[in-house]
Parts: sequence; structure tokens; C-alpha cells
Amino acid sequence: MKANFTKLLVLFVLANFTRAFGQQTTNPAVEAKIEALLKQMTLEEKIGMIHGNSSFTSTGVARLGIPELTTSDGPHGVRPEHGRDWVLDKKGNDSSTYLPVGLTLASTWNPELGYAFGSVLGAEAKFRGKDVILGPGINIIRTPLNGRNFEYMSEDPYLISKMVVGYIKGVQDQGISACVKHYLANNQETRRDGINVEMSERALREIYLPGFKAAVVEGDVNTIMGAYNRFRGQYATYNDYLINKILKGEWGFKGIVMSDWGAIHHTKEALMGGADLEMGTDLAMLPLPKYDKFFFAEPALKVVRSGEVPESIIDDKVRRILRIMFKTNMIDAKRSAGALSTPQHAEVAKKVAREGIILLQNKKNILPLNKATVKTIAVIGANANRDNAMGGGSSQVLPKYEVTPLEGLQNIAGSGVSMRFSQGYSIARNAGADQKLIQQAVENAKSADVAIIVGGWTHGYDYSKWDDNAYDAEGFDKPNMKMPFGQDDLISAVVKANPNTIVVLYGGGAIDVRQWVSKVKGILQAGYPGLEGGNALAEIIFGDVNPSAKLTVTFPKKLEDVGAHKLGEFPGDSLNVRYKDDIYVGYRYFDTYKVKPQFAFGHGLSYTSFDYGKPVVSSSGNNATVKFTLRNNGKQAGAEVVQVYVKDKKAAVKRPEKELKGFQKVFLQPGESKEITLSLDEQAFSFFDDKQMKWVLEPGDFEILIGSSAQDIRSKAKLKL
Ligand code: BGC
Repeated sequence: MKANFTKLLVLFVLANFTRAFGQQTTNPAVEAKIEALLKQMTLEEKIGMIHGNSSFTSTGVARLGIPELTTSDGPHGVRPEHGRDWVLDKKGNDSSTYLPVGLTLASTWNPELGYAFGSVLGAEAKFRGKDVILGPGINIIRTPLNGRNFEYMSEDPYLISKMVVGYIKGVQDQGISACVKHYLANNQETRRDGINVEMSERALREIYLPGFKAAVVEGDVNTIMGAYNRFRGQYATYNDYLINKILKGEWGFKGIVMSDWGAIHHTKEALMGGADLEMGTDLAMLPLPKYDKFFFAEPALKVVRSGEVPESIIDDKVRRILRIMFKTNMIDAKRSAGALSTPQHAEVAKKVAREGIILLQNKKNILPLNKATVKTIAVIGANANRDNAMGGGSSQVLPKYEVTPLEGLQNIAGSGVSMRFSQGYSIARNAGADQKLIQQAVENAKSADVAIIVGGWTHGYDYSKWDDNAYDAEGFDKPNMKMPFGQDDLISAVVKANPNTIVVLYGGGAIDVRQWVSKVKGILQAGYPGLEGGNALAEIIFGDVNPSAKLTVTFPKKLEDVGAHKLGEFPGDSLNVRYKDDIYVGYRYFDTYKVKPQFAFGHGLSYTSFDYGKPVVSSSGNNATVKFTLRNNGKQAGAEVVQVYVKDKKAAVKRPEKELKGFQKVFLQPGESKEITLSLDEQAFSFFDDKQMKWVLEPGDFEILIGSSAQDIRSKAKLKL
């Protein structure tokens, strides 16, 4: 008994020791069970486990009690059933909670909400009989044009790292696997199937890897999805450097590397390059799916039999799959039931939306609207009464309901306020300004107290309407940053008719607002705020909720101002895209190259205001602590996201003007003060030196910048390390 206890204690200490050094760990008792199973399996059975046997599953070994592995999209809700072979299965109860998209979640800057969000996803996936939920998506937002930015979180690796861990733990604490995707450098949809991404080692280490590293090392994520694109000449999904050396080597990843759907194009190279599970290969789409013709099916059997690929390589993949099956109670244990589309889940979605909708501009404090004085509202814009859940591609969700902005405004305003809707613009391929619709909107706005235009990007196609314009959708990038469907003309005409105009922007990130930004009083950025989004938006508009969200991406004035477009390439040529913008992604570019954005990274207004006290910075070794007092000096309760940026005063290499290295969301009652303490570790001051191929902390002078956005620095302090 005592010996056992000591053994357990040693294992526990060892596990935590390796975790602290940035490696995933395994459980010896489970490893023993895995070995026992492996010994009983034929090569055919092993091969069966490493490729898809339907659109979203891979084969088990029934005689040994190994079940199929069932995956499902996606990052913000469990996708409706697609049947085994992409034949839409309409029978099931497959309505799930439509959570706000990744971009909106990240805009909360609240890691605890990441956990709550993940818990909903995990519970619903479990209820729906899924083992792996295919999210979160955390590719760096390198350009506003990426059609999938809505699914992703930010342009900043530190912020992603903090938000992703809660999400993963939330899912996995429900006993379901998360699948962080798309590893790596899937930063555009144009030619995503094969484009080769070239970037420096420094950009890789400082910008593109940290979110994934946090997912693996801190989040202990069970599965990871390889990206479609190539990286330095080799497909990302079986890129020896990315998968074998970094992911499985440096970070000690013990889980499953699955391909994106159809991302495997070779047998031997992919087997050796570290991919563990082949999913969605196009052969599966033929009228008669040929799963046994997948690269990891019969062809894999052949290369093992011929000795070209050692069987130990297959064993390693099966081991990984079994490991995750044990970890998520698929073998030997029973899962709890989970829960689907409950009011509590909708409440989490609403909470995320309330904290994720950003107030960008509020001239003359037009917001919040006062129900006592605002009697007539012209609600204008096709996005005001449009559902979004089924848009965008694989991340589609089929909720039981979705509250549109118009419905939300009606719900929250109550009967004392009259709401009149005009469409304003129409969503159709190549649609420009529709003068008739504009005229109707102008008439409506003229006689209203306030005009609220809900527009912006539009969630691209749903699978029943492929002809929709795909502005925010998988497989497409946006053609430019301009407001689609003649919305610039619409907004200009409406604001002329009624100066009390508020614009609500839906969609996956920045859009060109130059034509009317100085004319309208209020601007809100809503992202895609989930099934309760309309209510949350209206609560903010009427002041029931005080906005506290912040931009996780820079909102540039124009596309040409973006680092990727100015210094780098987008979308590259037919073969390659070279990230010559290097580490100058997002605000790192704007700040360093002194380009003024429209709205800065980290920006977001509140109905109250906050005072930042003088900071005290102390250091011990290579760590520092920042302390200051934050006070809510307004009349309403509210939350501020305090942001800590580090500036290296002098370095051997060129460094960004400043980098986010700490933040905290602080909730304060009116008049309340709190002492804020933020810790900065060695990593906060280091850069990746690609000559020495390692992280370097150069001693010297640093500046700690504390602010409310990247452009709104409230106080500074010096630090010598
Ligand atoms: C997407 C993935 C998704 C997969 C399965 C792919 O096209 O890139 O994000 O999980 O399809 O639907």
C-alpha cells in the first residue's frame, strides 16, 4: 500500500515537473493498457484506426472494445449532423447552442469566459455523442481579408495564448477532446490547399507558434489539426519540422495530429512526417466513398508490408489515438450524459456576447439610449434581421433560435419604443447601392429619434445557398476591405437625414469606415455574437449592460496600412506567400512604423471611465511585478481591461515598439478602487534570436507601458534587468 502511494507520489511529482518544463505527460498505468491492446491488434486493425471511415469518424476494433472515434465541428457550437457520408441527416435532434464566434469570445479579454464557453461546447458534444470537437481555431489574424477571421481570435499571440487555455480546459473537463487548429500558418483561405508559406524562424517563434504552444503545454490539448497549406515547402500536416521536431519533440505532444479534411496527399511522407489520423480525403466525397483507398488505408498497409515504413510508426499513431480514448473515457469507463441547448448554455452565450460586443465610438454620449426619451427608432440594414448561425462553412451551427438585432432591440426596448425596420441594402452577389432601398431608409430615419444601421460583413454561404456572397466564409478571402452592397452610400445618406445615427458592424473584423466614421455618433463592433446576440446588443444599446469588450485586432483605416500588405505579400503568387512583414503583424506594425489606425488594438469604450494610478514596478531576477490602482470614477459599474505592454529600449535586433505581455479584466463599482498586480516573467522581455536559434533576454532598460489600448497608454514605468 505504502509502496504504491510512494510510486504514485513520484509519478505525480514527475508529471508536474515535466509539465513545468513545457512538455505533455502520460500516465504509466494507461500506457500499460495501451501496450496490452496494441499487442493484440493486427496490422489491418491498426491501419483501420488511422484514417476516416465516414465523413467524421475513424474505425475502432470492436472485438477489443475499441470504439470509433467521432469528431464534429466546430469552434462555436456542435455542427448539425451530416450523416456518415456527407448525406445530410435531418432526423436527429441536432440543434445546438450557437455560441459567439472565436473573435467575439476573444474580444471579452476574459479567460474565465473562455472556460465557460468551452464547458458548454464540451457538454453539448458529449450529449451529441461526439468524442472530439473540432475547435478552437487560433490562426493569427494577419490581414483583415482572411475569410475565416471570425473563427479565429486575434493578431496577438499573447492574447490568444491566454484565451485558448480556458477554452480547451472547459471542453476537456467535460471529458471531450478539443482540437486546436489549423497548425500552422493557415492565415488565408486563398489557395489554402497548397500555398507554400515562407516566414522567418523569428516570426514563427514569436508570432505564429505561441498560441499553439500554450494549447499544448498549458491547455494539455488532446488533439491538433494540421493545416491545408505547405510550410517551407512541405505540407503543414506532415511537416517534419513543425510536427516531429517542434510539436511532438520540443513540446512533447502526446495526443493525435489529425489532418484537416483532405489535407493528406501522400502516404509515406505523411506517415513519417507525423500525421496520425487522415480525415476527409476527397475520395470520401465520391458517390461511393472509398475510405479504404485513403492514403492511410490500403496504401499505408502496402508501405508497411514492403518495409518502406516501419510498423513502429503505425504503432505510435495508434498509441496516441488509444491514449486519448482512455483519457476521454471512451474505453473502460462510462461518460456522463452531457446536456444540449439548455437555458444555462444560452445564458453563457449571452454573457460572452455582452462582454464581447465592442463600443468603438460614442460621440456626445449618444449611447446608451434612454428609453424615456427615445420613442422611435429606425432600424436599418439587412444584417438587422438576418440569422448567421448556419453561415461561414464548417463552423455552422443549427440553434433552436437566434435572436437577430431587430428582435433584440424590440425585446429590450419594450412597448414604449416603436421600432421601424427598413432593409437598406440587399445581400446579393455584386450588389451595389440600391437607391430605392436607400431612399426608404432615409425616409424612415428622417422621422425617427435615432437611426441604428446594422451592417458590416455578411456571413457567407450556407450550404443551401451557395450563391450568397462569401464575405466571411471558409474557402474564400474578402476581395477588399470596403463595405459591401453599397453600405457606404446608405450610411452617408441616413446620417444626413438623421445625425443621431449609430452603426453596428457585424462580421469577422475590420472594415473600411472612412467615408462616414466622422459623421455617425456611435459605432459598435458585434462580430457574430451567437444565438442571444441580438439581446446582448440591445442591452448594451439601452444601457442595461455596460460594454467592456476590446478589439483583439487593429482596425486599420485602409487595407494598404496593414503590415502584411505593406511589407509582406497577400495572397502571394500561385505557389508561395512570403511573410516579409515578419513579426510586424497587427499593432506591432502600426506602432513601430507609426501608422495611425482607425481604432487601435485593445480599444473599446465603456459608459464609465477609469483612473489609472501611478505604477510601481519591481524586479526580482528576470521577473517583474507591476502594481497600480485602478479606479472607476464614473457613475456606473463597469469593467476595464488593463493592458501591460513591454518596450525594449535598446536591443541587438530590431524589436516592435511594444508588445502585449499582460492584461486583466477588472470589474469595479462606481467609485471603487482596486490594487492591480500583474506579473511579467522572463518571456515578457525576451526575443527569438534566429542566429543562435534561441530565446534571448538582453539585460538593459525596458519600459512598462500600461494602458487602455495600444494607442491609449495611461502610465509608464522604467525597468532595468
Ligand atoms: C476545415 C476544418 C474543419 C473540417 C471538417 C475543413 O474544411 O478547414 O476547420 O474542421 O473541414 O469540417
